Amino acid sequence: MCGIFAVSGERNDAGSMVLKGLKKLEYRGYDSWGIAVREGEKIDVEKQVGKISGVKQKFPPATEAMGHTRWATHGGVTKENAHPHQVGKVTLVHNGIFENYLEAKKSLDDWKFHSETDTEVIAALLDREIQGGKNTAEAIRAVAEKIEGRFAILVMVEGEPGIWAARRGSPLILGRGETETFIASDIPAFLEYTTTVNYLDDGEMVHIHGAQANFSNLKTGTPVDKRNITVDWTTEEAEKGEFAHFMIKEIFEQKQTIIRAINHEDEKLRQAAALLKQANGVYFIACGTAHKVAAAAEYFFADISGRKINVVPAGEMPYFERFVHEGTALIAISQSGETADVLEVLERGKKKGAKILSITNVETSSVARIADAHLPIFAGPEKAVASTKAATAQMALCFLLAHADAEMRERGSINRGREILRTTASSINDLLNPRYEEHVRDVAEKIVDRPNLFIIGRGALYPMALEAAIKIQEVSYIHAQGFAAGELKHGPIALIENRVPCLVLGDDPETVSNAMELKARGARIIGIAPTPAEVFDEWLRVPDCNGSQAIASIIPVQILAYHLAILKGLDPDMPRNLAKSVTVK
Ligand code: G6P
Repeated sequence: MCGIFAVSGERNDAGSMVLKGLKKLEYRGYDSWGIAVREGEKIDVEKQVGKISGVKQKFPPATEAMGHTRWATHGGVTKENAHPHQVGKVTLVHNGIFENYLEAKKSLDDWKFHSETDTEVIAALLDREIQGGKNTAEAIRAVAEKIEGRFAILVMVEGEPGIWAARRGSPLILGRGETETFIASDIPAFLEYTTTVNYLDDGEMVHIHGAQANFSNLKTGTPVDKRNITVDWTTEEAEKGEFAHFMIKEIFEQKQTIIRAINHEDEKLRQAAALLKQANGVYFIACGTAHKVAAAAEYFFADISGRKINVVPAGEMPYFERFVHEGTALIAISQSGETADVLEVLERGKKKGAKILSITNVETSSVARIADAHLPIFAGPEKAVASTKAATAQMALCFLLAHADAEMRERGSINRGREILRTTASSINDLLNPRYEEHVRDVAEKIVDRPNLFIIGRGALYPMALEAAIKIQEVSYIHAQGFAAGELKHGPIALIENRVPCLVLGDDPETVSNAMELKARGARIIGIAPTPAEVFDEWLRVPDCNGSQAIASIIPVQILAYHLAILKGLDPDMPRNLAKSVTVK
């Protein structure tokens, strides 16, 4: 949610470096962008509405610059609302939400605001503190005290070299080059220059100038020591390569990512499972696609280890918080590990003594760091907004965790789980080839003109029907809805008429009869199953996966969603209104 990138160094092309870095963060927000470049005593700002990807802008020579790609929260998509915002000597970019900004704004009646954003209020507060005699560090600390909500800010001040950053909740990572320092909301922005990073933690600030970075506590100003960490991401992983879009690249990467996700020592899995076993109530907390993964995990645990787990979308957890206390296990699933709703639940749970296990793709993310135990999924950077490889990797890991849970009673269960997943991964490997993609594309061509689409599945394929709907909605904007197979006839069947496409996940007798009920009303049945039932008008084959069917069954839908978007001339990597990492509530 909003991409932030800054560089301070010796090279004279800081403006174009920031432009290039922001293009790599565009998946975080893409309705408008802006870049501030320090030119001697002045700070010049260039802002535009629209995506940054095609922009070819020249910048004056400069060694320091910072920029922002926006995902609008306060105020529409206009040039005025785009960041950076300038007030007096202060130039500022911001990710997050200043919840009490209207109240703070009242105290600033001497400043004429140019935008509707909460960000300009932060810039104005900072400028006032500086004018009142505080140095920049003191001013940032004083203003941070006034902000309620999560934020990450970068600040440049006229006539004062270097860039300041502060964070509470929203991610910021420093890249440490030999002669320069970068600050970004995500690593791919600076990966081509350095793999040495420092994570700015919650409640910390930093001042960078060239290769220097001085960290301090955002409340007290006390200096903080930081360890250099080397990340093992490669630039290839973060680039599209020969693929037209990240989404299809990431779909094809599932050939490897499912196997990578289960590359955990048995002991580590046992420890994670022990956390569940000792718990007094287990809650899986997640948002969006990760929530559908958690819902599939509910079926895995019921089936494999006989454990009932509770699955709650993070935003709904406040209504169940009275059940969280010392001894409750909160299992957070999050690709980014930065989703604000998830983090809030964990922070509140931790205060009550709950134990936290996190399953994320970013080992150093806020969710992973707040957790008592962490299981990374090792999927590599996922940049398309629609989650694909992270979702199947999370599912594979949950499937294995359920086997680790069963191991307590049934020796050899982890090995059995791993074996099933290896076979699943290898059959997925066979599936992901250009011929299969072509076949899915043909099916997409037949349904692309239809405004509504329904998906049914039962058991763990029910949450996959919900996830299938998300995939199709997100990138093709076709109205898609998923249902438990038996539920469709309790209402939604009224919407079935001639040629309405229905994806049927599974070929078990009950689901096939549900498909027949739909077909009898004119629906076009697209079966996604190991065998071709007679009722299917189209059949997308998936391997028979022995309990892990949910993992394989979502893959054809991912490809279908991708091609529906392409056929409609849409950009599947950057769907309208969405952002990859939702760091606001
Ligand atoms: C956003 C993304 C979704 C994602 C959800 C949760 O809404 O657009 O694709 O599933 O956030 O993200 P997380 O990083 O917590 O898995």
